[in-house]
Amino acid sequence: MTRKLFVSTALPYANGPFHIGHIMEYIQADVWVRFQRLCGHEVIFVGADDAHGAPIMLKAEAERITPQELVGRIAAGRPRYLQGFHLGYDHWYSTDSPENTALSQDVYRRLKAAGFIYSKAVEQFFDPVKGMFLPDRYIKGECPNCHSKDQYGDACEVCSTVYSPTELINPYSTLSGVAPVLRTSDHFFFRLSDPRCTAFLKDWLDTPGRLQGQVVNKAREWLTGEGAQALADWDISREAPYFGIPIPDAPGKYFYVWLDAPIGYLAALQHYFTTGKARAAGEPRSFEEFLSAPDTEQIHFIGKDIIYFHTLFWPAMLHFAGAPYRVPSHVYVHGFITVSGEKMSKSRGTGISPLRYLEVGMNAEWLRYYIAAKLNARVEDLDFNPDDFLVRVNSDLIGKYVNIASRASNFITRHFGGELRYAPQADGFSAEARAAAKSVAEAYEGREFGRAMRDIMAVADRINQDFDARQPWVLAKDPQRRAELQQVCSQALAGFHLLSVLLAPVLPQTAERVARQLFGMDRAFRWSDATTRPGRINPYQHLMTRVDMKQLDALFDVESPGAAPAVAAAPAGAASVPATDGVLSIDDFRKVDLRVARIARAEFVEGSDKLLRLTLDLGNETRNVFAGIKAAYDPSTLTGRLTVMVANLAPRKMKFGVSEGMVLAASGGAGLYLLSPDSGATPGMRIS
Ligand code: 2FM
Ligand code: ZN
Repeated sequence: MTRKLFVSTALPYANGPFHIGHIMEYIQADVWVRFQRLCGHEVIFVGADDAHGAPIMLKAEAERITPQELVGRIAAGRPRYLQGFHLGYDHWYSTDSPENTALSQDVYRRLKAAGFIYSKAVEQFFDPVKGMFLPDRYIKGECPNCHSKDQYGDACEVCSTVYSPTELINPYSTLSGVAPVLRTSDHFFFRLSDPRCTAFLKDWLDTPGRLQGQVVNKAREWLTGEGAQALADWDISREAPYFGIPIPDAPGKYFYVWLDAPIGYLAALQHYFTTGKARAAGEPRSFEEFLSAPDTEQIHFIGKDIIYFHTLFWPAMLHFAGAPYRVPSHVYVHGFITVSGEKMSKSRGTGISPLRYLEVGMNAEWLRYYIAAKLNARVEDLDFNPDDFLVRVNSDLIGKYVNIASRASNFITRHFGGELRYAPQADGFSAEARAAAKSVAEAYEGREFGRAMRDIMAVADRINQDFDARQPWVLAKDPQRRAELQQVCSQALAGFHLLSVLLAPVLPQTAERVARQLFGMDRAFRWSDATTRPGRINPYQHLMTRVDMKQLDALFDVESPGAAPAVAAAPAGAASVPATDGVLSIDDFRKVDLRVARIARAEFVEGSDKLLRLTLDLGNETRNVFAGIKAAYDPSTLTGRLTVMVANLAPRKMKFGVSEGMVLAASGGAGLYLLSPDSGATPGMRIS
């Protein structure tokens, strides 16, 4: 039976480019989706930008553009990544869209009609300097549960407790640094504490096979676990000024971004229908018909940090809104990606930039393979390790897979005009192919991609061993043994054909080239091709190069001798301004986030004759920066002094660690001098 799958990945905030964590999730979902498509199932795979919320509004304000302009700029950058990493979305949309507005307001009205919405006066933090109510993420303080310091106002990153900002101990506004004051306004709430809701969620979580065991346990803990109160009602409104969707009949009030964000999945789906793409793909039904059909499966791929929203709020909203809305069939949760064991910052990503990966000319399929080889169906973190990456890609993809074709095809082309012929006793192949295709299919289906890659490489090992044992290079010297030579090489190429089908979800581009160029097919592979044997080949054309360590070095931006990283030397900025015009627009200049920083610690860096490691205090966060100032400063003289840093520089992975910014210095013939502000300036102040 053909499955009808509606698949999404979590919607990335439209305030920055994708980081490697996004790309990992998209690759995971894309591999699964491609596998389903290869099996003939119908999939509508969507993504969208999560456009609303205070951070985007404030970032746009800082850049003196409208939020729509900011979101538009970010959206314009997306296709480069999506195409570059072969991510086969059917549609990519935005939550700042008429569809999402209408759907969110519709869901809200239905929830209201069913008695799930009420309004109540709320005392909320207000920043008297900024003149606005403070969004949760702009208030920090001590977690009321585990007492970790500097936790955001909505949830603790240490113990995962979700709370309201007024529960924080010693709160402060991260916008102005001042203590916020309480002000009252009317807010709308979704009544999650309603017994209907709790009963529904218990049932939803208990449905066998819907969620990973680890995820059910986590969600159950929140719902019913020891010490958990009944699910608290959810504040779904925000006061103007806010970039979001207006709440019907409530002037000046907007939906909290997390209300409309998941509805963005449906908005993307709806837009896919209204643009006519669904019809063109052979889907005759309307959006509503497709969405509400009993055999449609709604599947969300997400990261472990947003389980709460997707397993409690989101299904409750959908269930009580009623048809055509439906609860998710599955929410598939993955862990985080670390790079060489280092954790990623959600806003700044890791040391590897996916764009840089593409720009240095690395093959997207290497990363797809590496990630697939390390993924399983559990909520586990995955580490990107450059040495491991090089070994795995080169030995598996080149050494085991591609080599079969390049070695066997030569003999067939040279001696047999491309024709393949199999030994009569070689029917064992199809039994083996069937078994491999079955076990690999089960692994793909269950998102056990690591197991799938291991099974595939075990098949590749067997093919290589058989080929080597038969010594075709010896056979080729003996005209009496031509038939044997042809059979041995044909057998290897049939194996290569099988491997290419099995790897097609992970290596879509290579697999298609193999199908069309080498095997002369007029289409890409289907899963059923796994158990067929090809009849002939065209001359082999190069398929894939090896990873070169130099590329990985370039990717990580390892410190090169003679470079003075992480410090801008005067004449400041000269290198980045084209010599011909020498003029920087004010808008470009404003993109540089210059801040006053206090040097909390300065240390020598073992093994470096240029660098000092600076720990910079920015008021409410600290940054690690490597600065090329060792020749000019004794670290002990730097501690405690103020300087100026570029705070929004992309983090750079260097030999000694990640550098998270740059300090400014004047330099020339007469030495190097760090900049300092006049007295009175405090850490975190913006410089303009
Ligand atoms: O955590 C995030 O990055 C959110 N933008 C994810 C939203 S997923 C969905 F609900 F839209
Ligand atoms: Zn905590």
